[in-house]
Amino acid sequence: MNHFTHSGSLHEEPSIREIAHAKLARRAAAEGIVLLKNEGILPLAESASIAILGCGADKTVKGGIGSGDVNNRRNISIYEGMKAAGAKIVSKDWIADYQKRYDDARETWKEKILEDAKHVDNVFDAYAKNPFSFPEGRAVDENDISDATVAVYVISRISGEGKDRRRAKGDYYLSEREQEDILYLNHKNLPLILILNSGGPVELTDILEEASNIKAILTISQPGQEGGHAVADVLFGKTSPGGRLTSTWARRYEDYPYSEAYSYLNGNLEKEEYKEGIYVGYRYFDSIGIEPLFTFGYGLSYTTFTTEYKDLRITEQGFEVSVVVQNSGEMYEARDVVQVYMTPPQNGNAKEYQRLIGFAKTSLLRPKEIETLTIEVEQKQIAGFSEEKHGWIIEKGFYGIWVGENARTSKLIAVLHVPENVLIEENQAVCPKKAEFEDLGAVEHAKNLYKQWISLAEEDDIPFFLYTPKREERKSFHSPIAKEKTVEELIPLLYGNITQGASTLGSAGIRVPGSAGETSEALEEKYGKRSLIMADGPAGLRLRQRYDVDRKTDTVYRVGVLGALENGCLEEAVQYEGADTYYQYCTAFPVGTALAQTWDLELMEKFGRAIACEMEEFHVDLWLAPGMNIQRNPLCGRNFEYYSEDPFLSGVLAAAVTRGVQSNGNSGVTIKHFACNNQEDNRMGVDACVSERALREIYFRGFEIAVKKSAPVSIMTSYNLINGVHAANSRDLCTVVVREEWGFEGTIMSDWNTTVPEDGSEPWKCAAAGNDIIMPGNTNDDADIRDAYEKGLLSEREIRSCAGRIIAMIDKLAK
Ligand code: BGC
Repeated sequence: MNHFTHSGSLHEEPSIREIAHAKLARRAAAEGIVLLKNEGILPLAESASIAILGCGADKTVKGGIGSGDVNNRRNISIYEGMKAAGAKIVSKDWIADYQKRYDDARETWKEKILEDAKHVDNVFDAYAKNPFSFPEGRAVDENDISDATVAVYVISRISGEGKDRRRAKGDYYLSEREQEDILYLNHKNLPLILILNSGGPVELTDILEEASNIKAILTISQPGQEGGHAVADVLFGKTSPGGRLTSTWARRYEDYPYSEAYSYLNGNLEKEEYKEGIYVGYRYFDSIGIEPLFTFGYGLSYTTFTTEYKDLRITEQGFEVSVVVQNSGEMYEARDVVQVYMTPPQNGNAKEYQRLIGFAKTSLLRPKEIETLTIEVEQKQIAGFSEEKHGWIIEKGFYGIWVGENARTSKLIAVLHVPENVLIEENQAVCPKKAEFEDLGAVEHAKNLYKQWISLAEEDDIPFFLYTPKREERKSFHSPIAKEKTVEELIPLLYGNITQGASTLGSAGIRVPGSAGETSEALEEKYGKRSLIMADGPAGLRLRQRYDVDRKTDTVYRVGVLGALENGCLEEAVQYEGADTYYQYCTAFPVGTALAQTWDLELMEKFGRAIACEMEEFHVDLWLAPGMNIQRNPLCGRNFEYYSEDPFLSGVLAAAVTRGVQSNGNSGVTIKHFACNNQEDNRMGVDACVSERALREIYFRGFEIAVKKSAPVSIMTSYNLINGVHAANSRDLCTVVVREEWGFEGTIMSDWNTTVPEDGSEPWKCAAAGNDIIMPGNTNDDADIRDAYEKGLLSEREIRSCAGRIIAMIDKLAK
């Protein structure tokens, strides 16, 4: 009994909601732009005469591909955004020439996918294996830059699910043409602003050494549909860039830990050993002493700020730090991000040199304006997980508290003295390793740094505080049990709505075209429990932009998987007679990384509310986002969907978005992919071999924070195995950690088609583990579950528990 006939509108023109959300998307994109370098060139004067060049100039990538894509109305490229801002652009011929090359390359790409699609079981694989890669442009010449006072060179990259980025020219490295063009512009002494439009880093170390004309660098990530306007806002100084990096940009790919063994690089896609343990991202670079090109938390502004430490206060939950921030510049209003780091004692358990434990963003400060910020830190943020003690422990010793603008320039402001080891939380041992491998242990450099800062603390009279940690209270968890109905009636709830002719993977939804799937409708007629509709994210809602309904029969004309991708560009649009066209124009907001780069919790919450508003409009109950895997290595094909290499930052950002989405009481999020979905090549079959400590401190931690701070309605398990067990089949993950330890009361669903034969998870074991729903569901899932129940492998209680949680979710959302 869904309360709508067809989703969307019969009117094609932009609604007020669409216009309002476009504004929010523009603001978010601008807030997420990180200024990495600026040698006095930005902001640009309105009179500047600009050569806009590079593959992304007019083909700016709004977001990555696959389920993270959004089929929005239109995207504003940087070229268009600059034109709209009144920029004087001198490179129109180059742009026109690139259009032709681009169109040809798109045609060849489409043909390849359509051909490959004939030879695979799931046509989505043909698409995922062949992400579009930008053609080379014409070599920049005199005509393109005549009269130019500055060049803006845009480097764009596309990646998506099912395939990791390549450590090759044109992807992680500059293409030959990009390199030649930049060197040519250098030779011509034309000042250059480099814009990176990519879901993650592109290595710039060599070009920065060779081309001294690169006066500014901006990373805009993949900024959503309004990206071009946002870039113009920043380049012309309408907005001062307020973004900060959420991952480390290394000088060399080799500088990332164990990077030569990542994904396909060592030829082993079956097994990924997380040998770096807890030393991920800046935790590794700072502990080992490797200088990155741009550090975690880094980002410049058009103004300068001063940050004065005010005080530290011990609180019930931990402590809080107050600082006074002043915009110390003369001209530009801007926002600052104040970051708080902790340096732990280097005794007992091996520890990283430092860790982000808190942050806050100022409001827009006018020149000379002052703001006091108070940043709360919960005690668990300074704890570590001890495998020996099976719990979280705050070890005795001195903990430095640092405040500043990024991981490298922060200042020591206080020292906490913990007199005794305190086990703040005891846990069960989970996810045991199947085979031992060498894990990076204590690091000498971190120990030396500890000695240095401790003597600095003494010399500089840094205030010491006695800190006595407390036991954490565990939230009890309550799982509803479906009592009334028969087991046979309940079993269909344990997988998604199987409907004849439904396409799979990301477009299995029936009622809302282009949605990803639905919960079962088995209880609908008899018990009035309708199915819930799910649509992808995290950069917006992924639905079909338009669809047709036969007027006589009132049935929706369906499209296959290919038709649902990239606005249907892979399939010829059919004109149906006697049909009504419905429009579902959703907003393409910036991708996860771009949003995260704002470090703006209020904005994240507001973004969440905007998502909820679109969910209501299009009758979507569950949003399959935020994506919150850790950016463990820069080549992961889906890093753009994720927030950060840091679990704390990921967790609090996801919690803010969740609060926003769930604020209306009938929309739910699905935080995903729990856990260790850190590689895309062989994502269904790869076994992530990880120590329990790294799991708890790095790969689970963000999820833990989101669960505890915002009670997400749902969690999606990942495809991969963790220490030999598929996430969806892991009782440790789905029941012990998430429910018994964190008190999670929502439902858990699998990722799409996780129960594929051979390398997938087993259907009945999903239910036994506490992974309540298998999505999108198939007849084999049903048969397998019934068979296991009859054989006594799966108990009635287990089935009733999963069903009870699903019914509770339906009651909550389908009001
Ligand atoms: C992706 C998920 C997504 C699902 C439904 C899968 O391929 O991994 O992130 O939510 O499809 O589209």
